[in-house]
This record gives sequence, structure tokens and C-alpha cells, in this order.
Amino acid sequence: MNAESGKSVSIWAATFDVPQFKPLDSDATTDVCVIGAGITGLLTACRLSSNGKKVIVVDDGTIGGGETARTTAHISSVIDDRFYEITRLHGEDTCRLAAESQLTAVNMIEDLVNTHGIDCDFRRLNGYLLFRPEEDADSLEKEYHAALKAGIDTQILPGAPLNFASSYPCLMFPMQAEFHVLKFISAISRLIILNGGKIYTNTHVKKINEEDDSVKVITSDGVIITANYAVAATNSPISDYWRVHVKQAAYRSYVTGFKVAKGVIPDGLFWDNEEPYHYIRLYNDGQDEILIVGGEDHRTGQEEDPEKRYENLVKWTRERFPEAGELKYKWSGQVIEPVDGLSLTGLDPESKGRVYIATGDSGMGITHAAFSSIILTDLISGNENPWAKIYDPSRVTLMAASEFIKEGFNTAIQYVDLLTPPGVSGTDEIIPGSGAIMKMGSDKMAVYKDSNGKVYKFSALCPHLKCVVEWNKAEKTWDCPCHGSRFEATGKVINGPALADLKSLN
Ligand SMILES: Cc1cc2nc3c(=O)[nH]c(=O)nc-3n(C[C@H](O)[C@H](O)[C@H](O)COP(=O)(O)OP(=O)(O)OC[C@H]3O[C@@H](n4cnc5c(N)ncnc54)[C@H](O)[C@@H]3O)c2cc1C
Ligand code: FES
Repeated sequence: MNAESGKSVSIWAATFDVPQFKPLDSDATTDVCVIGAGITGLLTACRLSSNGKKVIVVDDGTIGGGETARTTAHISSVIDDRFYEITRLHGEDTCRLAAESQLTAVNMIEDLVNTHGIDCDFRRLNGYLLFRPEEDADSLEKEYHAALKAGIDTQILPGAPLNFASSYPCLMFPMQAEFHVLKFISAISRLIILNGGKIYTNTHVKKINEEDDSVKVITSDGVIITANYAVAATNSPISDYWRVHVKQAAYRSYVTGFKVAKGVIPDGLFWDNEEPYHYIRLYNDGQDEILIVGGEDHRTGQEEDPEKRYENLVKWTRERFPEAGELKYKWSGQVIEPVDGLSLTGLDPESKGRVYIATGDSGMGITHAAFSSIILTDLISGNENPWAKIYDPSRVTLMAASEFIKEGFNTAIQYVDLLTPPGVSGTDEIIPGSGAIMKMGSDKMAVYKDSNGKVYKFSALCPHLKCVVEWNKAEKTWDCPCHGSRFEATGKVINGPALADLKSLN
């Protein structure tokens, strides 16, 4: 499968071909139009269609070709930002509800797998949160009590079942899970079709027009889908101009996969308390046992040398796992971090009542996709939902003001790039197969030279809110440091919030 949101290919994309669907070529009418065929859009469409709604799913790539193909697919009831932090920011009741939604999400995925006999290597296994000895003792105690209070089963262990971490106290969480994400969502896409739903791929949405009695979803070919409701399941919502994007920030995360002998590394999901953190699991790709290690996160568009991030991850892994053999996989992806630790699922704050979103997944997008499908189906069907309020994208979390200001300041200073000197002064300085920023009068140009020497020139200003895009050497994409929009080397938009391509100057 072609990994569409960048050049690197994940272990999931390398080992499984997702089913193909046709593009939408004529106007259509439906109850709900779901934009985005990642795990969030597909689970939502599946639940809506099981509940009798007519659904149309559209995606501008293949199914799962966005961040879903780039996940490491830990299916965990444990909240990334810590239960004690969620309690501090939102209070104990909200933390309990958030934990309940996470547990329900894991169970929902297992139920789908069992009910429909989905062959996706789903397994239950233990999860271990590692704390460095001495440094993190206080955090461990706090997290232990907060997790139990929230209703999450956990135990303190004096050491983790990994050689390097045998003296690292850890929290063990039973009944976590893992799977092959593309095998799972492919089965979900077939269920949608069985339920009477429709899926169209290679269909880019360029506009969402909300009217009093309907929503019109307009594709770049001018085809119109008229729906009662739309769900923008595009990871970063394309329906929202700024109100949601100031409450979250886009980060890139890196993953490496090493051959290891079977049985030498104990089974489990592992993640640590470092900043940025590392996450670890195993997967057998049919030929080799693979140790998958992720981490090295940074704000999107704010790293000049992504290869260095892979090098750091390889070094980190080899120092801790001398068993790690050949590096067989490496890929990167984008995670959207909400400033207050909870996802944003519900009515788009900029909508009049017909456009819903699910975003702000952190590293928990698999479970978020599952509970978001429940929340969105309930909201669209007019049913009460116990979690809708805590995930409401319009919420204001006063306790998260400092994080809000920090991420907002980070975004604001990216506009300084409008004034800083460009990377190169002429196209002859650009190596074939790469890109760079050049001066164009008082503005800046993003210039890509393909491997045959053909030069593509664009305005370097992101069509969303005019930040200067950066060249991502590892994925060969243009990434926006402000709200995470991304573009192919040849300017085509990959990730929102931008809806349009980079403006061509050729
Ligand atoms: C490296 C990495 C590791 C991760 N590890 C984990 C983990 O272990 N556990 C976990 O729970 N989560 C993890 N996550 C997070 C999780 O994978 C994601 O949050 C989740 O897959 C996002 O799914 P999604 O459906 O919301 O978005 P996506 O999969 O990105 O789907 C959005 C879709 O929308 C489409 N789209 C966008 N714009 C348009 C448009 N204008 N028109 C038409 N279609 C459009 C895209 O093509 C895409 O297919 C990880 C993420 C990364 C990057
Ligand atoms: S994503 Fe907002 S300015 Fe680029």
C-alpha cells in the first residue's frame, strides 16, 4: 500500500493492502456524510449505519492512508497525559468519565473483533508505565492513586519485565490490547458496505457549506453531497477555521522497528515517563519478530533534521535493547495534542448545528476513535451521551490556561519566519529530490526540485492562516509549523486545517 501522508512506510502499510474504492463522480444525498476514512471516520460510519442511518464516507486518499496507517496501535484504557493531570485540570468526576470512555472503547473494539470474526491479530496483554528510579517516585504514587480513583485497575511493580528496566518501578495495567490497524479498519469498511453505507476514496473535499436545513459537502471535482449532518473525521478538522486549532497543537512522532529473535523480549505494551516519552510493543510481520519503538516527538514543522530524530531513537533503543537487530522499519506520523489532555469530540464550535468533529487524539487515537463513534452517533441521533459534555469541543478549561498560552505563543512566533532569511538563494543550491525556502520579492517561495531536476515553485505561505511552511526532509513534504497542515512536495494538501493546495508559482 502507498503510505500517502509521507514517504515513509509503516509496518502496517508494508504488510497489508487495504480494499480499494472508487471516487465519487456524481451528486449524492445522504443522512450523514463522513469526511475521512481513517479509524475515526470508519468506526463512526459503521456505528451510524448499524443504527439505520444512511452514510457516505469520502476520503481524498485510500482508507487508513492518513495517520491511522502510521500508528503503533496500542489499544489502551490509560490516558497519556496521566490521570492525576486530568483530575487536576478537570476534577475527579470528569476523570472518572474519561476513564470509563477509554475502558468502553477497548471493550468495543474487542466486541467488534469477536462479533464479526475480524482477523486483525487483536490480543489482550498487560501495559506497563515505566518510571525512572528516584526521579519519578512522586509521579508514580500520584498516578497510581488517581488511576484507581478513576476506576482503572493497576498495580505498582518494583521493576518492569524488561532487562534495562528491571529496577524501574512501574504501574502495570492489565487487559490492554493491540492489533494490526489496517486489517481491522478494512473489516470495518466491509461492515459499512454491508449496512448499506457507501465509501468513496480519492475524493478531496474542498468546502463544507452549512445551510439551515442541510450541509453541502463539495469535492474538488465540483460534486456535491447533500446531507443532514457532516462529520469532519479528518484528524485535524477541515470544517473549523481557528476555534479548535487554538486548543490543540500538531506534533510529529517517530517510530523504528528492529528485528529481534522471538521470545527474547517479553510481551507487553510499554511506555515511559520521559519527556518526550517512548512507546514500545512487538509485532510479528510474518517473517520476523519486530520490536517497535516510538518517540522523539516535536512540534510539526519545527525540526530541521528529522533524520536526527530517527538516529536518537535508534541509539536510545540499542542502548536499552542489545537484542535489537537490523532496523527493518522506520516511519513518522502526526499526533494532535489538545492543551487540556482530553479529545475534542462533538459539534464543531464554528458550526450552526450540523457539522461534527473528532480531533485532539494525542497518542490515543485508536480508543478515541471508538468512543467518538459512540458520542457522535448519539449526538446525531438526538440521544443523551454520558461523555458528550467532557469532550465538547466548545469547552473552556481555565486550569489549562498556561498550556494554552504556551502553545499559542509557540504558534505566534512562527510568524517570525516571514522575516528570517530564506534557506537558499537560488534553485541551483537545491539537491534533486528535496525542497527549500527561497526569497520572492518581500515574500517567500517554497521550491521543490524532483529527482529529474524539474523545479516546482509555490508561495511558501500556508493557505490556512499564512504561516511559512517548512521542508520535511524525512517525509518529503511541506509542513506548517502553526497548526500542522501538510502538503506533498508538489504542493497538494495532505492534512488540514488547510483545504487548498500551496499556491503554484510555476
Ligand atoms: C507515530 C504514531 C503513533 C501512534 N500510536 C498510537 C497508539 O499506539 N495508540 C493510539 O491509540 N493512538 C496512536 N496514535 C494516534 C492514532 O494513530 C491517530 O490519532 C488515529 O489513527 C487518527 O485517526 P483519524 O481517523 O482521526 O485520522 P486519519 O487516520 O488521519 O484519517 C483522516 C482521513 O481524512 C482524510 N482527509 C483529510 N482531509 C481531507 C479532505 N479535505 N477531503 C477528504 N479527505 C480528507 C485523510 O486522507 C485521512 O485518511 C499514533 C499516531 C502516530 C502518528
Ligand atoms: S496550518 Fe494554520 S497557518 Fe498553516
